Parts: sequence; structure tokens; C-alpha cells
Amino acid sequence: MDPFIHPIFGKSIKKEVPFYFNGELLKAREGQTVAAALMANGIKKLGVSRKLQQSRGLFCANGRCCSCFVSVNELDHVLSCMTLVEKGMKVDSNNGDPNVRGEKNGD
Ligand code: FES
Repeated sequence: MDPFIHPIFGKSIKKEVPFYFNGELLKAREGQTVAAALMANGIKKLGVSRKLQQSRGLFCANGRCCSCFVSVNELDHVLSCMTLVEKGMKVDSNNGDPNVRGEKNGD
């Protein structure tokens, strides 16, 4: 079953937005957050924890817990639950300690 088809009307009600997760082309709907789009595509593991390398994913879904960090267009430490998907966006898992002081992050 296509998760983007309305269960009652039987058709899609929002425009499709292609994006990439770890290099794989996926589809989101206009207005979805990155986290919601990944969940709709069956992806629950967004990365691993810094110290113990344990799986991390969506937890609070409102920008409070920092459990959903991903890299977006090579910018580390982005909250996927608070970021809307954009066409062609490149999202990558947060695997390890992000380089928050790196040149690409504003320093
Ligand atoms: S899930 Fe808690 S900040 Fe995103």
C-alpha cells in the first residue's frame, strides 16, 4: 500500500518531492518533515549515538530531544523532525560524532 495515498479519497493530495537518504532516491510529500518522510518510506534508524553507537531515531518529534540528528546537504546536526523536505535534498545518517566546528558548519 502506498503510504501517500489518502485512505478514503484513494488519491494523493500533495505534490511529490524527490530527495535522497544515504544516496537512495526516495519520495516525500510537499510539507513533510525529513523525519516524517523517512518514516513514511519505512526508515526508522536515523543514525547512531555518539558514545555507544546505539541506534537513534524519532523520539519526541517536536525538536526537544535531539535524537533525530541527520546531515542535510552536508550540514551536520540537523533536526530531521523540524526540517521540511526540499526537492533534491541530500540527507545522510548521523553516524558518529558530527564535525560541528567544521568549515562547512559556519566556523
Ligand atoms: S525527535 Fe526529538 S528533536 Fe527530533
